[in-house]
Amino acid sequence: MPGNVAFTMEQPNAKQKEFLLSEKKFVAYGGARGGGKSWAARRKAELLAFNYRGIRILLVRHTYGEVYKNHVLPMLEDLAPFIRAGAVDYAKAENAFRFAGGSRIECGYLESDKDLLRYQGIEYDVIFVDEATQVTEYQYQTLLASLRGANRFPKRVYLTCNPGGVGHAWVKRLFVDKVYRPGEKPEEYEFIRATVYDNPALMEKDPDYVARLEQLPPGKREAWLEGNWDVFEGQYFPEFTVGIHTCPPFIIPQHWRRYFAMDYGLDMFAGYWAALDEKGDCWIYREVYQPNLRMSEAAELARRKTGAEMLDGCFAPPDMWNRRQDTGFTVADAFAGQGIYLIRASNDRVTGWLELKEWMKIREDGTPRMRIFESCKNLIGSLPMLIHSQKDPSDVDTEPHEFTHGPDAIRYLLAGRPAPADPPRQEEEWEERDEYRDTLSFLEFGR
Ligand SMILES: Nc1ncnc2c1ncn2[C@@H]1O[C@H](COP(=O)(O)OP(=O)(O)OP(=O)(O)O)[C@@H](O)[C@H]1O
Ligand SMILES: [Mg+2]
Repeated sequence: MPGNVAFTMEQPNAKQKEFLLSEKKFVAYGGARGGGKSWAARRKAELLAFNYRGIRILLVRHTYGEVYKNHVLPMLEDLAPFIRAGAVDYAKAENAFRFAGGSRIECGYLESDKDLLRYQGIEYDVIFVDEATQVTEYQYQTLLASLRGANRFPKRVYLTCNPGGVGHAWVKRLFVDKVYRPGEKPEEYEFIRATVYDNPALMEKDPDYVARLEQLPPGKREAWLEGNWDVFEGQYFPEFTVGIHTCPPFIIPQHWRRYFAMDYGLDMFAGYWAALDEKGDCWIYREVYQPNLRMSEAAELARRKTGAEMLDGCFAPPDMWNRRQDTGFTVADAFAGQGIYLIRASNDRVTGWLELKEWMKIREDGTPRMRIFESCKNLIGSLPMLIHSQKDPSDVDTEPHEFTHGPDAIRYLLAGRPAPADPPRQEEEWEERDEYRDTLSFLEFGR
């Protein structure tokens, strides 16, 4: 019986202690490599199962192999005296530890959306996601639907995380940037930041581990050693830097060539206006970024935002010429109806992304060929969030999907090969034009 077996464990370090004692509903722990995250998650799950009767705990990792190696095997060791005493039993088929008080810890994995089916309809009191940045926001949100139950145990979610991965953006938003959407209660979230330096056990056991982290190339080093969430492993455009690739808005000179590029879907209409100066440098000066617009509404909005500007080209991906089953019209038709004549731009993804990298390259004078006005907030927020696809590392991953709309539109802009501006006209010529304009507006006014 458990009465004569004591649960002994190593002492938690200060940060782990904070995590073990935290009472918030959503707690994230870590933020860098080696901070003792998996240890803390596993220990907390075990302590909860010992201390509360009849609760159901889920502990997930990205893959079965990872959960088995990082949690099942260590737990079999941690709990061995109890398993021998018959107070805990490991049900291999369910990958679950069942405690004498009726609580259970299920070790699961979330490698793809279809793995969510395993948890559908099951009620959990506590959910742990070890390496939460390996799961997408959709997977996380769907998993949260299983956080419920009729008992009085307060429902809890515990995450551990490293920067990088498909879940980088949503974890960063909730726990690092603390930007909340309607319905999310800021007071329910807590981030306990821990790096390898907070884990004396590891520093003692494996001093080389710290040395290895310290020797990582820039980017990976800041992310994994220092827990910097702005540069991270797997990021597609680590070169993108606010202040270098962005600039305060200014009035675009008359003689620069202007272009428009867009991507349209019901989930998002992302459109950008860009101007090319006579050197061929590109300035992205206006953004529309709006979900849930019908194609006619998107076209009207683009027209309105363009105002009286003359556009030298409007670029869009080939699927804008697909006929909608219901109306028989294409998105291109809708835009043509507003006087915006779209030009089909290549949707060769990899070529497009590499091209964008070329435009972002810093030249000898310290400037890139492309700059974005600070007012184009969604594009600026999206570019650093894109990650390499695991299937084709030269491509951008289509997840997190919400950050792909703006950069996709810019890809179409570049694929459209926008041309540089001609040199400005002579002074007199402008005056003449202005006079002509005055006459025109006078005539219109008089009508
Ligand atoms: N409080 C502790 N006492 C003794 N050993 C510990 C403690 N915390 C962590 N460790 C040990 O330190 C090592 C690293 O811990 P852990 O695997 O939990 O870190 P992690 O943050 O999950 O690392 P990674 O980023 O590589 O996933 C492991 O060997 C673990 O057993
Ligand atoms: Mg770990």
